[in-house]
Amino acid sequence: MKTLLEKKEKRERIVMITAYDTIMARLVDEAGVDVILVGDSLGMVLLGYSSTLQVTIDDMVRHVAAVARAEPRAMIVGDMPFMSYEASVSEAVHNAGRLLAAGADAVKIEGGGESYGDVIRALRRAGIPVMAHVGLTPQRYKLLGGYRLMGKTASEALEVIREAVTAEEEGAFAVVIEFTAWEVAKTITEKLTIPTICIGSGPYCDGQVLVVHDVLGLTPSPPPFSKQYTNLSDIIRKAVLDYAREVREGLFPGEGMYWGMKKNEYNKLLSMLREEQKEH
Ligand code: KIV
Repeated sequence: MKTLLEKKEKRERIVMITAYDTIMARLVDEAGVDVILVGDSLGMVLLGYSSTLQVTIDDMVRHVAAVARAEPRAMIVGDMPFMSYEASVSEAVHNAGRLLAAGADAVKIEGGGESYGDVIRALRRAGIPVMAHVGLTPQRYKLLGGYRLMGKTASEALEVIREAVTAEEEGAFAVVIEFTAWEVAKTITEKLTIPTICIGSGPYCDGQVLVVHDVLGLTPSPPPFSKQYTNLSDIIRKAVLDYAREVREGLFPGEGMYWGMKKNEYNKLLSMLREEQKEH
């Protein structure tokens, strides 16, 4: 948290990216990101759900633990999934505690100080660092009327700004700002002393976050604000096509990729098989 704060003070941009398993966590850590987010986006990206609403705290614990096993240098933030913090403060503390026990350094909740000030305060009291998330909060897409740009009107912009400002007041250590008009993100970034990390909210933030599968070209319909830096889908499809062709043509496994018995052991086996056949 101290490093992230220092980065804001020095105007060094913070890099956050999602990862949901050990291999990916190792790779993104080797690339030098500052924060690994084990996002509940895993529900859509990995598990094939149509939204994040079906993701459970057990799913999150399993994936946070997988990321933690990579022992990254980067901070690990575990997302609190839908209905793991809304119903009561004590459930929120209990569930956030499970993510920390699984290896997260901090948790993220969708909402700011206006909606979840009591939760942010209680988590902080329990020693659990909290990242808030304002603007488009995908767990509330039904109430918001879909996955849409937030803060286009002055009154909605003010609501988003208030959520962020009060998140800092209640003790959040950083705020994700998702899919808002850039003016909203810029205003929040200037008002807060804690870092803002944006997705789809423009460049005037202390950092940026993307879903790693969007970056790698692994998602069929990525959001308009993501950027694809390579196309792993094509690379994977071609590799598997090559493998399938080689199997069908008898080219795989090739010389040097299979191992046998010692000659005398093989001969022994043949006579044992002959004996067995005689007995039957
Ligand atoms: O779940 C997630 O991956 C997120 C990011 C998109 C911020 O919350």
